[in-house]
Amino acid sequence: MIKLKTKIPGLRSTRILAGLKKKNGGWGEPHPLVLSGKGKGAYCEDIDGNVFLDFACQIASNPLGYNHPELLKVVSDYNKRFPLKYAGQDFTIEEHLDMIESILGISPGMNQVFLSNSGAEAVENAIKIAMHDRNKKKFTVSFQGAFHGRTLGALSLHHSKPVHREGYILEPNKELPFSDLAGDELQETIKQHGADAVAFVILEHLQGEGGYRIPSDKMVKGVYSICKKNGIPYIADEVQAGIGRTGKWWSFEHYGIKPDIFSSAKALQVGATVARKGFFPDEPGSISSTWGGGHALDLAVGMKTIELIKKHKLLESNRKNGDYIKKRLNELRLEGVRGRGLAIAFDLENGKRDKFVLECARHGLLVLGCGINSVRVIPPYVIKKDEIDEGIDVIGKVVKILR
Ligand SMILES: Cc1ncc(COP(=O)(O)O)c(C=O)c1O
Repeated sequence: MIKLKTKIPGLRSTRILAGLKKKNGGWGEPHPLVLSGKGKGAYCEDIDGNVFLDFACQIASNPLGYNHPELLKVVSDYNKRFPLKYAGQDFTIEEHLDMIESILGISPGMNQVFLSNSGAEAVENAIKIAMHDRNKKKFTVSFQGAFHGRTLGALSLHHSKPVHREGYILEPNKELPFSDLAGDELQETIKQHGADAVAFVILEHLQGEGGYRIPSDKMVKGVYSICKKNGIPYIADEVQAGIGRTGKWWSFEHYGIKPDIFSSAKALQVGATVARKGFFPDEPGSISSTWGGGHALDLAVGMKTIELIKKHKLLESNRKNGDYIKKRLNELRLEGVRGRGLAIAFDLENGKRDKFVLECARHGLLVLGCGINSVRVIPPYVIKKDEIDEGIDVIGKVVKILR
């Protein structure tokens, strides 16, 4: 249960947050609490002893919640060795192959995987392998609202918040509408520049930072079939929506398509670029990174996560719990309730969203914004019905306060 002992943020959290505001070069208004590491399931505790219900899930990167006993066991299995991170491309460990096989086991049709450290790196390497043999490429193609990470290659594909992008030299990119018009525009682009000019097309099949928008069947199948017909590599970015959050392992599976390449990270605990045969370059050393495939503990936790999702049938329960959350949000008469599985969002009036997120935290519920005025509801896969009800009650209360 949510249990607040202090005003939020509490005194100890306030001191740490003030230090970070001054000294963290990547300061970005974090939530008003500092986590202590304590917590259980969907609940986490801050360093002031306040217990929060987490519908933000470390931005979809903590799918099994806090202090899951089977994950704690994995951590303790690794507590008698050092280093935990190896230069995995040059000095390999068993977990490297085990994780690649785990990923391929849930990715029919895919043949090879490159492991890295983050979502941006997973995308960056997807970009590289898609581009590698396309000698006449002139530009990349992504979609309105897209977010693929902060490294310069990934940022070139970005059409979410301008603050992420402004001030950098980026690669040439064509932005397609995130709508049924996308296929026609892609066709027109090919007519003007030729298919070989298009390095690749990249799409989030449930758009994350851009607003938890679900592309229509017509949009996805239209763009996909044009790519197939013209030999243009098709990349799916699964960094946020993958590893079961939408009720399928990968969000592109909702469309019955098979991308050439996809990226994963967050819930997987490491970055992964996954591809069909023929996309990774043959030359040894062409794709690499010091810690690629060498983060032993992260790999073990990621593999156990996949195992537990299978064992506890969490894809099915994500779909069921997601339907229940949408029903409860609709009962509150919120605008634009949408989502797949446990990737859910709703809209607020312009200008109210950030206040809403802060007020929820002050009432002990962690949620996240996305898009311009949307709120993400992304609880861990271990969420229970009474916990959903507790969170929805807070949402209802805060909606009333801000009305
Ligand atoms: C769809 C998508 N791609 C890529 C990224 C970048 O991942 P990371 O922050 O781990 O670099 C994100 C992060 O939110 C994302 O949502």
